[in-house]
Amino acid sequence: MTLSRDQIDAAVSAIRARSAASPEYAIILGTGLGTLADRIDADTRISYADLPHFPRSTVEGHAGELILGRLAGRPVVALSGRFHRYEGYTLQQVTFPVRVARALGAHTLIVSNAAGGMNPHFRAGDLMVITDHINLMGDNPLIGPNDDTLGPRFPDMCEPYSNALVDLAEQAALELGIPLRRGVYVALTGPCLETRAEYRFLRLIGADAVGMSTVPEVIVAVHAGLRVLGFSVITDECFPDALRPADIAKIIETANAAEPKLAALVTRCLEKMA
Ligand code: HPA
Repeated sequence: MTLSRDQIDAAVSAIRARSAASPEYAIILGTGLGTLADRIDADTRISYADLPHFPRSTVEGHAGELILGRLAGRPVVALSGRFHRYEGYTLQQVTFPVRVARALGAHTLIVSNAAGGMNPHFRAGDLMVITDHINLMGDNPLIGPNDDTLGPRFPDMCEPYSNALVDLAEQAALELGIPLRRGVYVALTGPCLETRAEYRFLRLIGADAVGMSTVPEVIVAVHAGLRVLGFSVITDECFPDALRPADIAKIIETANAAEPKLAALVTRCLEKMA
């Protein structure tokens, strides 16, 4: 299903009926940023269930709510509730909130995820600023007729993650004394974790971290002309020659433990953004 300009407009109208806010920064509260919702000085909270064409969250703990307010004094729209391809959503559905955030006026997108670390220098609990990505989902949210009013048919991908924002994030991390890795994120659909042969392959093609999200949203953000800043929380070590069974409970625990660090970093980044 291709989500059209009319559907974006319908969702925006429903939001406009509740708020006149003009958010400049969109934040997807994925893994690692969930608690950021509590730091937002919220004016308006709207359940996804009250927004036309918004997907419904199926994952427990993902509230499924759009929050308009201020964070670090900046006008933000926070999307609390992220959608994954492996849940059965199309990539158009997964990325619809990004379209709506853009239509509300956002010019910058901040995203985060939980990822497996494949760079041997990385350890579980590390934070990484995403410098580039590899799309191995075998799908693309822009497939289908292109609406030229939303973005170009063939969006350029030479700098999907703003180099200036990567620099700004590194500066912010330095100021806060938070160690920050940098690297390439590769996205697969999941829901399986990867085999040892796959980790070896993903490392070989230049990826530092692997996960099941973010890339679709970033593709749509670039198509729509948004600047992007992305972070991964390294939740487990995916070294093919020393691989142990993935412990999902431990992965979630590691992600939760890193949240305050990432929330502080994103808040400082917002303070520093012009
Ligand atoms: N693969 C491996 N480890 C992970 C992933 C993944 O997709 N996400 C979080 N840790």
